[in-house]
Amino acid sequence: MIKSLRGMNDILSEDYERFTYFINTATHVAQKYGFHFIETPLLEETALFKRSVGASSDIVGKEMYQFIDKGKNDVCLRPEGTAGVVRAFIQKKLDKAGGVHRFFYHGSMFRYERPQKGRLRQFHQFGVESFGIDSVYEDANMIMMVADILVACGIGYRLQLNSLGDANCMPAYRESLVHFVTQCKDEVCEDCIRRLDLNPIRVLDCKNEKCQSLYVNAPKLINNLCQACENDFTKLKQILDTNNINYEIDTNLVRGLDYYSKTAFEFVSDNIGSQSAIAGGGRYDRLVEFLDGRPTPAVGFAMGIERLMELIQMPEVKKEGYYIGALDEDAIDLVVQLAQKKRKTDKVNIEYKAKNFKNHMKAVDKVNAKYFCIIGSNEIQSGTIIVKDIENKTEEKITIQEF
Ligand code: HAM
Repeated sequence: MIKSLRGMNDILSEDYERFTYFINTATHVAQKYGFHFIETPLLEETALFKRSVGASSDIVGKEMYQFIDKGKNDVCLRPEGTAGVVRAFIQKKLDKAGGVHRFFYHGSMFRYERPQKGRLRQFHQFGVESFGIDSVYEDANMIMMVADILVACGIGYRLQLNSLGDANCMPAYRESLVHFVTQCKDEVCEDCIRRLDLNPIRVLDCKNEKCQSLYVNAPKLINNLCQACENDFTKLKQILDTNNINYEIDTNLVRGLDYYSKTAFEFVSDNIGSQSAIAGGGRYDRLVEFLDGRPTPAVGFAMGIERLMELIQMPEVKKEGYYIGALDEDAIDLVVQLAQKKRKTDKVNIEYKAKNFKNHMKAVDKVNAKYFCIIGSNEIQSGTIIVKDIENKTEEKITIQEF
């Protein structure tokens, strides 16, 4: 038997209900914040991710589904959504047009990671990207949007916040961190040695306990911000305070993608095990320019739908629509005809086989219909239909015309 690949799941039945419920809820919130839908391809040139997510990141270094296509192009399945949206934004010349552009998207992302609970190789994100606003109010807007989506889905969270500084303060901080780590180079893990050359600040979120204990005394990003970054971070915290959004400052939060500057944030849940990040994002003011666009400030986030599906509090499912069935063979054509008409306004489930009343009743529970409607030879003769209201437990015979 052929099975799905490791870390790649089917989504159906009850899972699909949760999946669509989340997307509908998040879409509704994003639209209320003035965001518009964007769809970008699953397959892009590999260079796009190397230049944006960063050659030093684990995503690009170890996890890409990369191959040479039949036209000898180096391509890969997208590991995340931001790079493609930025490419589309530049390709459509929206960077040159100026103004504010806000997008949301959802779809599959691919990372060749070691699968475990909450960590898949094909997973789904709901994400948003906002272009053209360099005010920290937009950063707060992003965080409040995630919080609104989570609250609407009945999901509790902890918000972790950091500032990564900008081109003014980051280089000096990076230098002091490299100096610190070099002093204990013999004791840190191999990954950290590699990071030291490629992207030193990634050492801060090393999962190795020994490294973490060594870095306790490392210089902190947050104490090395320039005045502008410091002011923005203070303002961001004040906006969140005013809007009753609780947060924790995590000076080691550096995110796994290289394009961020200034605000970085992650939402985590304590109820889904070790893969606890349910959303992550931040500001990436240099990425548009880096991908050859006109310099444009930008900020965004993405949420991991599979991780959230475990946590969603689904609303009670209401009975709705009609179940229509035939008691005798000669009523089936009429059943199909009536179903076709009713579907213009209502959800209709139909049974093509003639069955007795009891067997139809068994089927109606499975489809959760509000009205149970039955026609047999007698009803055809009298031009009537039996309609049972399942919720109110009432039953009546009405004319087909009335129905
Ligand atoms: P990210 O933190 O890499 O950010 O991913 C966002 C979310 O996707 C994570 O918080 C997690 O819930 C989910 N996720 C990531 N990897 C996996 C996996 N292997 N299996 C299941 N879920 C996963 C980004 O992707 C950025 N593009 C976010 C962003 C948008 N920043 C600015 N704009």
